[in-house]
Amino acid sequence: MQADLLVTGFLFHKGRVLEGGIAVVDGKIWKVGKESTLPKADQTLKTRKLVLPGLIDMHVHLRDMELSHKEDYFTGTCAAVAGGFTTVVDMPNTVPYTDTAGKLKEKMEVAKGKIVCNVGFYCGFPRDLNEVDEINRHALGFKVYTYRSEEEWDPQSIASLVEASRGVVCFHCETPAKKPEPSFFDVDAISALHTENSELEAIKHVLSSVKKSVHICHVSTPASVMVCSGRATCEATPHHLLLSKEDARRIGVIAHVLPPLRNEPERLLRLLSEGRIDVIASDHAPHALEEKEQLAPGFPGLETTLPLMLTLVNDGFLSLRRLVSCLSSNPARILGLENKGEVEEGKDADLTIVDLKAEHVIDASRFYSKAKFSPFDGRKCVGKPYATIIGGEVRMENGELFVKKGCGSVVTP
Ligand code: NCD
Ligand code: ZN
Repeated sequence: MQADLLVTGFLFHKGRVLEGGIAVVDGKIWKVGKESTLPKADQTLKTRKLVLPGLIDMHVHLRDMELSHKEDYFTGTCAAVAGGFTTVVDMPNTVPYTDTAGKLKEKMEVAKGKIVCNVGFYCGFPRDLNEVDEINRHALGFKVYTYRSEEEWDPQSIASLVEASRGVVCFHCETPAKKPEPSFFDVDAISALHTENSELEAIKHVLSSVKKSVHICHVSTPASVMVCSGRATCEATPHHLLLSKEDARRIGVIAHVLPPLRNEPERLLRLLSEGRIDVIASDHAPHALEEKEQLAPGFPGLETTLPLMLTLVNDGFLSLRRLVSCLSSNPARILGLENKGEVEEGKDADLTIVDLKAEHVIDASRFYSKAKFSPFDGRKCVGKPYATIIGGEVRMENGELFVKKGCGSVVTP
């Protein structure tokens, strides 16, 4: 039998790197082995590069609908594919807000016609807990913002949601605000409002409310990581691992993000290399530049995350094995995506091929994201995505996208 696609290179397979190939049939990995043992294929992609399981970003804001000026499903997923991601999971803080089964399904319907990679969705804290069963059938999980409403802070309602959810429940942890936001970018005022302690207290509050493991988004301090240990999975962003409060002062409002950048990010990075952080997620949060000037928090991350992390591999701060766990196998496991996260026979043929030695400089003006700015703009990196293969289709090679609006799939549980 002839395969549809044959990919060769240095494969990350069962925790090791081996030279060989992957034969793909019907969007699935059919055979993995030495090239000489593999069948012929209609299409071949012979590289001498590293072939990783498709990367999964479990914290992305694709926006669209009434926030399409910031990003839409097409531009956001093009950014994902360009950045080496095969699957992303979209957050519910859209306009309209995603907090009913109806709105979730509407969103998925709109997305279907525009996406170019695999996209799963989280639902926000449901307006009606009786809808959780129905939402469970469509969403990969829920996202709770502990500071957003009384319900999202209430231990009883948190417990009920976590009990009823069949997917992962993710938490943005901050205690409910007591004071208004500053009106201009003042690093000290913002840090005083969004304190390390407020994050830690909120995590403790969530963990003491629930009986099952939950997922804590964008931890920004070592104390937050340590309190999750054995009780919840946790995620860190490249910016909290690599940028400090001093960098925020230097870069200015472009670097404004929640949680804010903290002192000594290298302490968080050490915990990542020690294997105490489960997931690396971009928290891709695009805005219009005018909105950034008005203190909109966040910035795009889909096109910078992989180069930044590969640079850490080259610099010896992160092993390749850790990178693959945090960017693919762990997110797959946490999201319940059993067919993803490994290069293994029978799994989906989602692959990210990287050029580990490519030296380049991040240039935000060339992003596929509508948000063409980044606190990492101008940063030198070593390592970048070379090709993105989704369901056996080459969607990006050597920086060029091969996508049609709607060629992506909505991922359901
Ligand atoms: C996020 C956004 O813009 O949607 N911004 C951010 O700074 N992380 C929202 C959020 O997660 O707080
Ligand atoms: Zn958040």
